Amino acid sequence: MPSLKTYLFALLVAVVALGYAAWRFYDVNDPGTGQSASGQGASGQAAIGGPFTLVDQHGQTRTRDDFAGQYRLIYFGYTYCPDVCPVALWNMTQALDELEQSDPEVAAQVTPIFFTIDPERDTVEHLAGYAESFHPRLVALTGTPEQVAETAKAYRVFYRKVEDEGASDYLMDHSSFIFLMGPDGRYLTHGTHQDAPDALAAMISQAVAGG
Ligand code: NI
Repeated sequence: MPSLKTYLFALLVAVVALGYAAWRFYDVNDPGTGQSASGQGASGQAAIGGPFTLVDQHGQTRTRDDFAGQYRLIYFGYTYCPDVCPVALWNMTQALDELEQSDPEVAAQVTPIFFTIDPERDTVEHLAGYAESFHPRLVALTGTPEQVAETAKAYRVFYRKVEDEGASDYLMDHSSFIFLMGPDGRYLTHGTHQDAPDALAAMISQAVAGG
């Protein structure tokens, strides 16, 4: 029998190792990594973002060009997400509500967009019901698994299905960045689901003032 001390020590080692792995994981997955301050890759192409063809919650085909001239506040997630995605979308909604009060001109220039990374379950009908819980102008997008994968790749968003044996449902592992893209579709900056509405609103105001 290992002693309690041995057991506790092993547990401590495991926790530290996990923490380190998580830190490395998020570090590696930070979309800001390896990017110059201008948001340009070595090729001169925007490092984050790209064209897409998807369908919104009303069944309309939407492409990147539909949002030309608008700032876009973008989040990738899935409607069955138990915690992180609803927090992110709620914070985005609150941030835009705050901006509508403090600076309606800026708020009117920002379109919030939710891209699903779970097209299998996030159908048009399902997205329609989900989107109603958040900002009235929220655009929720889905597509074929290939279209979704291509879009996520362009935004450097990681996602992965996590199947739990015995559970009827599955979860999705995914990065949780809130991107702000400019009216020309270029990446400007990003936050995360952990940013409070105030911080997101300030991030948007600053970016709009600076552009
Ligand atoms: Ni999520």
